[in-house]
Amino acid sequence: MAETIPDLRYTARPVAYAELRDHLHAILEGERDEIAAMATLSALVHHAFGHLWTGFYRVAVPGKLLRVGPYQGSLGCLEIAFGRGVCGTAAAERRTVIVPDVALFPGHIACDANARSEIVVPVFNARDDLIAVFDVDSAQLNSFDEQDQAGLESLVSLFASDRS
Ligand code: SME
Repeated sequence: MAETIPDLRYTARPVAYAELRDHLHAILEGERDEIAAMATLSALVHHAFGHLWTGFYRVAVPGKLLRVGPYQGSLGCLEIAFGRGVCGTAAAERRTVIVPDVALFPGHIACDANARSEIVVPVFNARDDLIAVFDVDSAQLNSFDEQDQAGLESLVSLFASDRS
């Protein structure tokens, strides 16, 4: 496979995410395994933007518990309860949560003390069940906005497409 990960740190976000989406679909053509897709997406987003931590927390017990899935970066916590931290909030409320400054988010779970801002998007399957959340952490404040929300939600919509 000749695909490499582009450096998109200095590219306008909408253009960057469109490029990543093309890469993702080219790499995963014909691939139906969810974990393979999660691992590939984590690597692409993490290295293209140079984030601190990028990866998935999968729904282990619906409505109750998330467990870490494929990720890139420093060590992630193994389990997060629904409703706890940013990931647990996004899971419980089935919506994207953007945190410009993690110090100001009550109950933020600091797996990596260098995290300053983050975005967590919910991941749904074709039946609209929540199957995971996709968490991206940055070492800088204010790293994420609605362009990242749109781009990341578009990337994880892959899991809602019927690939069977
Ligand atoms: N920051 C997250 C916890 C997960 S990690 O940082 C990898 C949260 O508060 O949900």
